[in-house]
Amino acid sequence: MDSVRAAPKPLRKAVLPVAGFGTRVLPATKAIPKEMLTVFDRPALQYVVDEALAAGIEHLVFVTGRNKGAIEDYFDRAPELEASLQAKGKTAQLKELEISVRPAGAMSFVRQQGALGLGHAVWCARDIVGDEPFAVMLPDMLMMAQPSCLAQMAAVYEKVGGNVIAVEPTDTPEQYGVIAPESRDGRVIKMKGMVEKPKREEAPSNLFISGRYILQPEIFELLSSQKPGAGGEIQLTDSMARLMELQPFHALEYEGRTYDCGDKIGYLRANVAFALANSEYGEKAAEMLKKTLTEWER
Ligand code: UTP
Repeated sequence: MDSVRAAPKPLRKAVLPVAGFGTRVLPATKAIPKEMLTVFDRPALQYVVDEALAAGIEHLVFVTGRNKGAIEDYFDRAPELEASLQAKGKTAQLKELEISVRPAGAMSFVRQQGALGLGHAVWCARDIVGDEPFAVMLPDMLMMAQPSCLAQMAAVYEKVGGNVIAVEPTDTPEQYGVIAPESRDGRVIKMKGMVEKPKREEAPSNLFISGRYILQPEIFELLSSQKPGAGGEIQLTDSMARLMELQPFHALEYEGRTYDCGDKIGYLRANVAFALANSEYGEKAAEMLKKTLTEWER
């Protein structure tokens, strides 16, 4: 008789670490959180929240820090603005505001008092996440995918359980965390390890870890004793490597494309790509870009 494997615990919560300084995009980030910078017509963070909701996430946990108040304001109601738009009959603009508002109690904000690293930021969410699996979503990585990247991962998680991370092929593995595959079934890869920024000739694959993770709560215990690693920061990947000795890890080569908004050219690329993909403005954006390039080349 086939043994019946218990269904994995449902995925309900996502942690979004937003406490970094965003030094690579200064001076824009001097007074505005990096995650609130505009990608075409909305803050970068809105795309990540939409991705989470499309995967059935019910509760979002933001790990914030100093000077990040704009994030809380953005996801709150704006009564004066709403009343003013209402009075002027600006219903289309009123509707635009709705995407940022979640039901009361469906978001938590926890403070990371110092930017000690991504691993430390995730650890700060431990009491709110509790004893259940959760997603980690790096908000400076924007995924253009249908279904959403996290939704594709959640579907895999329901089948394989354990820990699931998103990966994507890259020409420059030396710039990223890269996985070591053990075996592969379609787009799902059983992992045996991962390497941070390997030398190109030593990279165990060309698949980089692109900023979406589904993790089991045991990671918190490991994070609490994690020593600083690369850059003197408490690294999430170091604790993941330890968790891999105890639990299964799968990588999903998801269908879609990652836009790394961590630096200025990455932001520009994401702006162009999301403008071109916009159903209302895409054609106009393409025309404008072609015209600008022609004028530039003259
Ligand atoms: P990054 O290293 O890309 O962000 O971290 P950063 O530190 O803001 O960027 P630079 O290098 O100075 O330009 C990935 C994500 O993790 C968060 C960041 O806010 C970013 O969204 N993070 C990083 C934290 O929340 N806390 C940390 O201690 C480090």
